[in-house]
Amino acid sequence: MKTVIEARDERTQPARLVPGYPQTPLRNPREPLVSRQPTLSELTGPLEVARRVKLLGGDIAGHGEKRAIGQLIHLRVRVLDEDGAPVGGTVVEMWQANAAGRYIHPNDDDHAPPDPNFYGAARLVTDGNGLFELRTVKPGAYPVPTRDGWWRPPHVHFSLFGKVWLSRLVTQMYFPSEPLNAQDRILNAVPDAAARERLVARLIAPTGDPHNALVFEHQIVLRGREATPEQP
Ligand SMILES: [Fe+2]
Repeated sequence: MKTVIEARDERTQPARLVPGYPQTPLRNPREPLVSRQPTLSELTGPLEVARRVKLLGGDIAGHGEKRAIGQLIHLRVRVLDEDGAPVGGTVVEMWQANAAGRYIHPNDDDHAPPDPNFYGAARLVTDGNGLFELRTVKPGAYPVPTRDGWWRPPHVHFSLFGKVWLSRLVTQMYFPSEPLNAQDRILNAVPDAAARERLVARLIAPTGDPHNALVFEHQIVLRGREATPEQP
């Protein structure tokens, strides 16, 4: 059977070069892409990623004296394939800024303080329903260190390993009704409004459970017409 890899729909994916975002020229090809058949290992691997890597907890907000500063949130994220079927066993890596908008990373400057109780990263695996859950704190907005000083809205980065290497997805999740969403250069690098909407989580009406956390639901579609856009 011949494998069909659909062409990328440019309207549902971010522009490869985002003005004012200095990393994009380094992360994207300068020359036109060359079409080739995927290799067997690209279509069959990676095998058993969840077993080979160390999974790092579904709670990065901490408790008691070790509790991170910030608004507690609980993320419920489902990973789906192009037919809407859950993709279980997906290894998901996430990273985010702390509540003040600071990453624990040597490239982040000292515009905001680090939180000694918050590292801001996790590695999880989806269950049989394609679901993973994470207790964390809401990330803060942060300024991008360019001359015109724009700001990123609160967001969470995700890297997902689907069933095969070709379904790897690096993306971001945004929060609803954030004023900075409308001006964010990364989110708005996706031309299609419906595709942008697929990057924004949904706030669930508070019920008191989980305790003291706002619940956000989100879905990530690895491929197909409803695919979640990449976000560098
Ligand atoms: Fe970020």
